[in-house]
Amino acid sequence: MMESQKSNVVILGIETSCDETSAAVLLNGRDLRSHVISSQITTHQKYGGVVPEIASREHSLHFQPVVQQALNEAKLTFRDLSAIAVTYGPGLVGSLLVGVSGAKAMAYAAGVPLIGINHLEAHIYANFLEHQDLKFPLLALLVSGGHTHLILFEAHGQYTVLGHTRDDAAGEALDKVARTLGLGYPGGPQIQRIAQEGDAQAFNFPRAMLEPGSLDFSFSGMKSAVLNTLNSARMRGETLSVPDIAASFQQAVVDVLVRKALLAIKETRVKTLLLAGGVAANRLLRETLDHKLAEKGVCLVYPSPIFCTDNGAMIATAGYYHYLKGDFAPWTLNAVPGLGLV
Ligand code: KG4
Ligand code: ZN
Repeated sequence: MMESQKSNVVILGIETSCDETSAAVLLNGRDLRSHVISSQITTHQKYGGVVPEIASREHSLHFQPVVQQALNEAKLTFRDLSAIAVTYGPGLVGSLLVGVSGAKAMAYAAGVPLIGINHLEAHIYANFLEHQDLKFPLLALLVSGGHTHLILFEAHGQYTVLGHTRDDAAGEALDKVARTLGLGYPGGPQIQRIAQEGDAQAFNFPRAMLEPGSLDFSFSGMKSAVLNTLNSARMRGETLSVPDIAASFQQAVVDVLVRKALLAIKETRVKTLLLAGGVAANRLLRETLDHKLAEKGVCLVYPSPIFCTDNGAMIATAGYYHYLKGDFAPWTLNAVPGLGLV
C-alpha cells in the first residue's frame, strides 16, 4: 500500500456461520473493494435444509479460496489489512469454528488485529454500508432464519432488545411452510416467488399479536394453522392452491411484522427504522413498510438484497466500527453458537 494511504482502514470481513462462505474487503467503512460469496444452497437443497456436518466440511473446502479471491479482487495482500473481522456467533458451531480458527491464524501470521463479530449485529450494520449518514437513535427489525428481534439501537454497540420471537423465527416459519408446500429450500424466496401468482386474501391465517402492547412475536401457531389447513384438505381429498396458501401466509407474516414495527415506532418515537436479515429481502415486507412508514413521516432503510442474506460485507462493515473503537478480540476468541445480541 502507498505511504499516503496508510491512514486508510482496510478490513477483511469473513462469514461462515451457516451455509455461506463469504469474504469481503472494505476500505474506510464505505468502499467495498471485493465481495465473494460461496453459497452451499445447492448442496443442502436435496436434504430440505442445512445439514451442519456438511456445512462445516464445505466451509473448510472453500474458506481459503474465498479469502484469497477477495484479496486478489481487491488487489491487496494480508499485509495491507488493518484488521480481520470474523463472525464468532451465533450460528452452527462447526461452521463458526472454520471461520474463527482460519481468521485467527491469518491475523496472527499477518500481524494484524482480530475482531470478533456478532452475526446479529452485522446484519444490522449491513445498513451502514450503503447509508453512512444514519443518525441515532435507530430502531431495527431483524428478521432472519434464526431470529426475529425489534431492537432499539442508541449508539454504536448499544442495543436494547424490545421484543423477540418466543418460538419460531419469521424466516424459519417461511422455510417450514415452503417445505410442506414442496417449494424447496430456502423457503422465503420461493414463497415470495410463487405468492405472486396467488391471492393473499384466499386464506385468513391467524395473526399472532400476543398480549396488548407486547413487542414479542410468535410464528409457530401461524405456521401450524397452515399445516392444519393443508392436512384437513388432504383428508377431505381436496387440493388447495399452493400460490394462494403461499400468498396468504406471506401476507400474515408481513402483517404481524409491520404491526409490531409500527407499535415499536409509536412507543419509542424513533424516526428511522432499519430492516435487517434475510427476510428483509422480502419485497412485500419492504413495500408495505415503505408505504406505512411514509404516512407517519418515519424513514425506512434497508440493505440491497445481496447484503440482507448472509455475507462477508456486513461483517467487514461491523468490523470497521469496532476497529474505530479499538475493540479487538484476544487470540483465545472462540465460537459461541448461542451468542445473543446483548
Ligand atoms: O439472514 P439469513 O441469510 O440467515 C440467518 O442468519 O438466519 O436469513 C435466511 C432466511 C431464510 O429463512 C430465508 O428463507 C429468508 O431469510 N429469506 C427470505 C427472502 N430471502 C431470504 N424470506 C422472505 N423473502 C425473501 N425474499
Ligand atoms: Zn444471518
